[in-house]
Amino acid sequence: MKSVVILISGRGSNMQALVEAGLPVAAVISNNPAAEGLAFARTRNISAHAINHRAFSDRVAFDAALTEAIDAYKPDLIVLAGFMRILSEPFVDHYQGRLINIHPSLLPAFTGLDTHQRALGEGVKIHGCTVHFVTSQLDHGPIIIQAAVPVLADDTPATLAARVLAQEHRIYPQAVRWFLQGQIVLAGNHVEIKTAAGGQEVLYSPGIEL
Ligand code: GRF
Repeated sequence: MKSVVILISGRGSNMQALVEAGLPVAAVISNNPAAEGLAFARTRNISAHAINHRAFSDRVAFDAALTEAIDAYKPDLIVLAGFMRILSEPFVDHYQGRLINIHPSLLPAFTGLDTHQRALGEGVKIHGCTVHFVTSQLDHGPIIIQAAVPVLADDTPATLAARVLAQEHRIYPQAVRWFLQGQIVLAGNHVEIKTAAGGQEVLYSPGIEL
């Protein structure tokens, strides 16, 4: 059976959405021993462990230990879900084409941190989230699916984040399902989704059926 390993650093609500969607999660690994999400995974009898990055002398050494832990599960896909470590090039190369991330903006806008606050600062009218393949360039890489939400006049970073997060929890399970079902075709920087209808539906908004 196909399986995924999920990497988290904190709350783990995206990981929880993936588990609750019934996806085959073999393990959850965190760089942060205090990550709240580890406890949830254990309640579902999913193997959950921490590899504390602070115990390693450098990024490459940490990434090597992480690789060893991940590869023990022989996963088909590695899912970053709020994993707050920059990954080294050897790590990204090792998992090329089977390492995905979710980012809380409509990429390529607002790479990096504080995306909701920056979106409000720029006065954008539409914001959202993106699932993409990971490359060695931070928050870049072929886009699999995006969801858009409106930005409202009285939004704060927290209200906007909550509206985006609800969409993250919809599109991440969809992206993982597509991957495991072999419906994702990656060609250069472009992703094609093979749907039953032969079409390609990769932008979602609240109210649009997945
Ligand atoms: C999400 O907003 C995700 O897009 C970003 O970090 C946050 C993680 O939240 N990469 P959670 O840990 O999944 O609740």
